[in-house]
Amino acid sequence: MGWNSWNRFGPFISEHLVLETADALVESGMRDAGYRYLVLDDAWEGSARDDEGDLVENRWAFPNGLRWLGDEIHRRGLRFGLYTDAGTRTCQGYPGSLGAEARDAKRFAEWGVDFMKVDWCYTEGLRGRSTYPKWTDAIRATGRPMVLSISEWSRDKPWEWAGAVGHMWRTTPDIADTWASVVDIADRQVELHPFAGPDHWNDPDMLEVGNGGMTDDEYRTHFSLWAILAAPLMAGNDVRAMSDTTRAILTAAEVIGVDQDARGAQGRRVRRDATSEIWARPLADGTYGVLLINHSDARANVVARWDEVVGEKGSRRGVVRDLWERGEIGERDGFFDRTLAPHACALLRVSFD
Ligand code: GLA
Repeated sequence: MGWNSWNRFGPFISEHLVLETADALVESGMRDAGYRYLVLDDAWEGSARDDEGDLVENRWAFPNGLRWLGDEIHRRGLRFGLYTDAGTRTCQGYPGSLGAEARDAKRFAEWGVDFMKVDWCYTEGLRGRSTYPKWTDAIRATGRPMVLSISEWSRDKPWEWAGAVGHMWRTTPDIADTWASVVDIADRQVELHPFAGPDHWNDPDMLEVGNGGMTDDEYRTHFSLWAILAAPLMAGNDVRAMSDTTRAILTAAEVIGVDQDARGAQGRRVRRDATSEIWARPLADGTYGVLLINHSDARANVVARWDEVVGEKGSRRGVVRDLWERGEIGERDGFFDRTLAPHACALLRVSFD
């Protein structure tokens, strides 16, 4: 869990923004809710390498340098994440790391980086499965533990090979701040649950919660889907100026509890029909996370049947807790149903006897 600059700020990032964001992550309770990695995405770089061939920061935007900034981030109890690109240039046109993997990983380690996002622009002729292992080796050689976030947009089916190479891998093209994008991304995750587990996660991209393009109901559904998918939760909004509702969504402790569940089992979509989607995820304590979504444009009654949640026929009784409302609902025989507003959801924790 963390925060990444890209979705809200694109290439317009600076030392000032990072320091204010770091303070806001602490003051808003986001850090203590689990958002630990503060990740600078593309456009922190200077336009060329230095005379030694090392990557350098843009000194106009980062006057005190990234080593200093990393210390400031760490001083606030956060971890430092930084972006580079596996090809000849980053997506924004800054120097890429092709052929300089060991050098750049070493430089990142010297700066105190804890998390590397390695992107995939300008990689003509390369394949993910033979390129990213160079990064695994480069990081190991530094002696500093760093998360390796593989960002090749699912071009080379990373779920087939990335589990042993990095900690998380993008499974989609870039998210947009729209309901259509969330629906499209969810559809692309349906077959991928067998590949995720502790320390190796499918990454359906960073969160758009709070960026203004969706309703609060849609943001709650977006966040709930990521939780049921065991996805990395990288907030992508302006945490310095977020509404109470946005903060409440991003810090919903019981929803985050599903996302971060120790069993690490990614949820399955157990049904999709004209109005509804049901997702289910087995949790470490033997209960299930269950997500009901109304994906239609009108109010609709949505039903989750316990046999489809568990994946076995038979009648059973579930004891239901509502994780957004943080309240017990009680016992339900055979199914649970709720009438939901368009694109709204219910996220439950269900135990069966
Ligand atoms: C690609 C990545 C994004 C972001 C941008 C930065 O599009 O997929 O997540 O890092 O590049 O330029």
